[in-house]
Parts: sequence; structure tokens; C-alpha cells
Amino acid sequence: MTSQIIPVDPFDFIIFGGTGDLSERKLLPSLYHRQRGHQFSEPTRIIGTSRSKMTDEEFQDFARQAISDHVKPADIDAAELKTFLARLSYVSADATTGAGFDQLKTAIGDSECIRAFYLAVAPALFGNISHKLRENGLITPSSRIVLEKPIGRDLASARELNDVVGDDFHESQIFRIDHYLGKETVQNLMALRFANALYEPLWNSANVDHVQITVAETVGLEDRVTYYDKAGALRDMVQNHMLQLLCLVAMEAPSSMDADAVRDEKLKVLRGLKRINGNDAPKHTVRGQYRAGASAGGPVKGYVEEFGKNSNTETFVALKAEIGNWRWAGVPFYLRTGKRLATRVSEIVIEFKPIPHSIFGDSAGPISANQLVIRLQPDEGVKQFIMIKDPGPGGMRLRQIPLDMSFAQSFDGRAPDAYERLIMDVIRGNQTLFMRRDEVEAAWKWIDPIQDAWESARQEAQAYTAGTWGPSASIALIERDGRTWHESN
Ligand code: BG6
Repeated sequence: MTSQIIPVDPFDFIIFGGTGDLSERKLLPSLYHRQRGHQFSEPTRIIGTSRSKMTDEEFQDFARQAISDHVKPADIDAAELKTFLARLSYVSADATTGAGFDQLKTAIGDSECIRAFYLAVAPALFGNISHKLRENGLITPSSRIVLEKPIGRDLASARELNDVVGDDFHESQIFRIDHYLGKETVQNLMALRFANALYEPLWNSANVDHVQITVAETVGLEDRVTYYDKAGALRDMVQNHMLQLLCLVAMEAPSSMDADAVRDEKLKVLRGLKRINGNDAPKHTVRGQYRAGASAGGPVKGYVEEFGKNSNTETFVALKAEIGNWRWAGVPFYLRTGKRLATRVSEIVIEFKPIPHSIFGDSAGPISANQLVIRLQPDEGVKQFIMIKDPGPGGMRLRQIPLDMSFAQSFDGRAPDAYERLIMDVIRGNQTLFMRRDEVEAAWKWIDPIQDAWESARQEAQAYTAGTWGPSASIALIERDGRTWHESN
């Protein structure tokens, strides 16, 4: 996708967890792409840090390998790669003991560039790192700290984490990443709503029947056993990505794209979500766990076999959310997400109300309600389903067709990864696509009662076969209301 590239000011980018999975798969490849896109100004530097001992050259080799594994060969330009690798250095530092922070200080020197400290490490280390940065005098007014999720596992722990980091950094310096907000199509949701006159007048309970948000994955546990089993799908996906999507669909028009204008509106949505408590949870939520089945044409293990221990952790959640405000009263938002589902797809479906009266007799066939389907991944695009007359003779027969806008067909070039956009926004100091403290806490405030209800009722995760659409209770959740999940394929 072509866009005008505006270089950012020179910066020092310090990655804690520099040799970890996120750095390898996302951060280094994304930074390389921005180098190739000529977005860096001199003297920009990237410093990897973790506990392991490593030389600069070894870290550069690590980055070269990461780029060769995660960037398409056609996008690897030898000269740009060389320039990029020359920006990289490495410092071994231990956040628990503070060893190595003095070397980090020496490596950064008295540079006055923007400093971005990226914490691609377990949240238990956030406080240690942030305090050590302060104790070593590494935090300048133009420093920022980037926090990867999970920001806590409930409201209390999120508050604690926010307090700890807030001791050292001002809120305007704290960038809480939700990488879904960096996805092109997620940003496009704002363009669709607020750069077109067409939809906004219909975007309310008078015209919308319901909303569906699906984030389906085909992957299983991957290598994240310890983290995932303690989190589960509600904490891992719903508290952050899915609620952020819901906010972007449901929020009022902010007065501008200014970070606080947008985040104020999202916060109102989160605060407007009706609480799901112990009585409502069995009716409004479904939790599932995959059993052995098939994925990508081959057999796959069940969650428990993959994990190696018995577990009641959910790998699937479906729920019905409602927002108590004038715009959305009575409009259900059905959310579902899971691992090892039938296909990988993330999409938002806005289903409008049926027409009030049909002038076409029975022979015309059923008239389906209009649907707007915003496909976030893969095959990004927007489809507006409308009714038309089936072409040809034979009387008036009606048919539903999509007005189809596929991004791949409409735009040339590579779609940038979410991290590219987000990292550059960190450097620009633009927090619009990052979660503010009160948003994260409001999201937990809504999630906690659901988690508590499940725990106190000892609600078992319902089994579903890997490669399907989740437990049958998820279908029942929406069909009870006379609606069906949109078929995503
Ligand atoms: C992460 C979750 O935040 O998002 C993972 O921790 C999940 O469990 C991932 O797989 C999905 O991201 P994407 O960009 O692949 O849809």
C-alpha cells in the first residue's frame, strides 16, 4: 500500500528482551522495513538488551537471521540491510539485579535523541526495568516506555503495574501497545465511519440489529504454554483486542484524531458496557477448550495434550455484550474468539435491521437484511451486502450480493505490519493508537466479574474439536436470539 513516508526524528530504540520471540518476529523486521522505507534520520540507533551475554556482532547476526526468516526475500535490499545492521548494538543487562544498566548508560551516552525503551519482557519485570532506568538517570524528558500486554491479569494487578511504571514515567510517555490498533484495517474502521457521510446516520439502535466481532485463529498454544495457561482467551484476547475493536465500532465521533479525543470516546464505551455478573454469565458467555482434531489438513492434539497437564483454561470465548447508552440500547454485540478454529479470520459484521415491509411477493424469495462486513485479516477488505434483482427474465427474484472492496485488488504494494506503524508512532509521540491507563483499567473492570463468575461457578470449559467453530453452545448463544453467526470463509 503506498503512502507518503515522512522521516521521524533521530532516536535510540532500546529493546528489553532484544533476543526474545517478539523482537525476532516483529520488532527487528518492522524496524528493518522502516529503514528500507527511508523513515529514519541520523543518528538513529537500536540497542538490544537481555540477560544473555552477546557481542554487537552476534546481535547483528541474530537480527540478520530474524529478517531473513520474517521478511519476504523480495523486500530484502542488501544495502539497506547493511545500513540497518550497522545501527545495532547490544548490552547485557539484568533487570532484577540492575547489573549492566551502567553499561547501557555508557552505550546511550549523552545523546539527546528521543529514547524509546521497549519492554518486550514478562510484565513482572516492568517495574524493575522502569525503576532501574530512573535510578541510572536514563530517563530524559523525551523518553518513552513501551509496554507489551498483558497489562495485569485483573484490575488490581493492572493498577499496580500502572502505578509502578507511573512512578518513573509520566502518562504521556507511556505507550501501552495493543497491536490490533496498528492493523491497517482497524484504522480503516475509523476512516469508514468518520470519512464517509453514508454510514454514520445509520450507526445506531434505530437501524442496526446487532454487531458481531470474530477473531478466529487456527494456531494452538504455540510456544507460550506457561503464559497462556494462566491467561486463557478472555484475558488474552477479549480484554484487549476484542474490546478495542468494540470501542472503535461503538464510540461517538471524537472531535479530532488527537490521542485524548479518541481515547476519551473509547473510555465512555468501556464504561457503558453492562456488567455481566454471576447470574448472567451462564446465559451471556461460553467458554470452550479444544480437543484433538484437524487443522491445516493434518491432525492436531487437544489443548491438554499440548499443554502436558490437565487444565480448565479456556481457548475459546463467545459472549453477548450490551452497551447501556442511547446510541446502542438494545443492540447486542456478539464477540467470539478462539484458537484452533476452522479458519483464520478476524472480522466485524454490522447487521442492519430488516426492511419494514416487502413489496415483492413470496416468489421473489427472502429479503436478507443488509450487512456490512469489515474484514480485518486475512484478505483485508470491506463488503457491503445488498439485495438486487437476479438478472434475466423470469419475474422479480431477489438475491443478496456483496459490493466488494478488497484491499489487495485496490491498492498496490506491501501492507505494513501493525508494529511498523506503532513503533513510528512511539517515536512521533502520538498516543492515539495506544491504550491509556484508564482504558486498560475500565476493560479489566468489565472482564473481572466474568472471570469471577466462571471461577465461583467452577464453570468447565466446554469441549470443541480442533478445526471447528467452537462449542455448540456458542451457536446456541446467538441462535437463542434468532440470529446466526456470519459464515466467514
Ligand atoms: C496476541 C495474543 O496478542 O494476539 C495471541 O496473545 C494471539 O494469543 C495474537 O495469537 C493474534 O494476533 P494476530 O495479529 O495474529 O491476529
